[in-house]
Amino acid sequence: MRRPLLIVDSGSGGFTVLDAIRERLPGLSYSYAADYAGCPYGERSPEEIMRRTMALVNAAQSRRQHGMIVIACNTASTQILPQLRDVYSIPVVGVVPAIKPACERYPMGTLLLLATPQTVQGDYLDDLVARFSQGVRLDRYGSTDLVRLAEASLHVAPTLKDVARVLSSVPAKSYDAVILGCTHFPLLKVPLKLFFGDAELIDSAQGIASRVFTLDEDRLSFNAENAFYVTQRSGPPSSFFVRYALPDPDLVELNL
Ligand code: DGL
Repeated sequence: MRRPLLIVDSGSGGFTVLDAIRERLPGLSYSYAADYAGCPYGERSPEEIMRRTMALVNAAQSRRQHGMIVIACNTASTQILPQLRDVYSIPVVGVVPAIKPACERYPMGTLLLLATPQTVQGDYLDDLVARFSQGVRLDRYGSTDLVRLAEASLHVAPTLKDVARVLSSVPAKSYDAVILGCTHFPLLKVPLKLFFGDAELIDSAQGIASRVFTLDEDRLSFNAENAFYVTQRSGPPSSFFVRYALPDPDLVELNL
């Protein structure tokens, strides 16, 4: 039985992953679930992130059945995947910072991981760095102000000055590549490019899209209705609804 894809994030960051997935699977049907009431997750405790993400997935699953789940949030993915895989028998795909591909591309390079505070300091990240970053200099910078700026960017285009204010303690033009370890950050690609100069910006979206494509095996449905679940009526402007063929959001209460 083919069913829609469920894509989950604390807010609008998951749309950057959805873009890549829709490119690989045109006409895909999906539900987008966003915890705008809890965003940003990057300053919350691991327990809170776990509880909120679980509750959001459960709320979406109780409204309609899905063929696959993508946790399009690095902060949540690094905490919650094993628990979700225990509960649901459908594939659950997580998004984690593209440390491995970035280190393979720049084996002697100077790299920066830009993510949320929870992601940069977590055990999962330490393990990823220990496994793949030999020979590489990898700095880490965690910011939730950048997440807020990314949400605001859906309404007003951010400038280089806005980004430079948030990243005032980051040396701008000293990296070969910058790993965008938060799905919100590709929303700021234009000003981030200006800030980081020649550095390549690397995110995980294409990798996730390939994973979903490979796992599909007739699980996912196409050309059916999409759904939009939110925990608070804030978020994207109406142009987004048109672009992603989303209906009016369905306000869900989390069972925390
Ligand atoms: N988009 C999320 C991530 O990839 C979380 C941002 C946040 O809510 O702090 O980490």
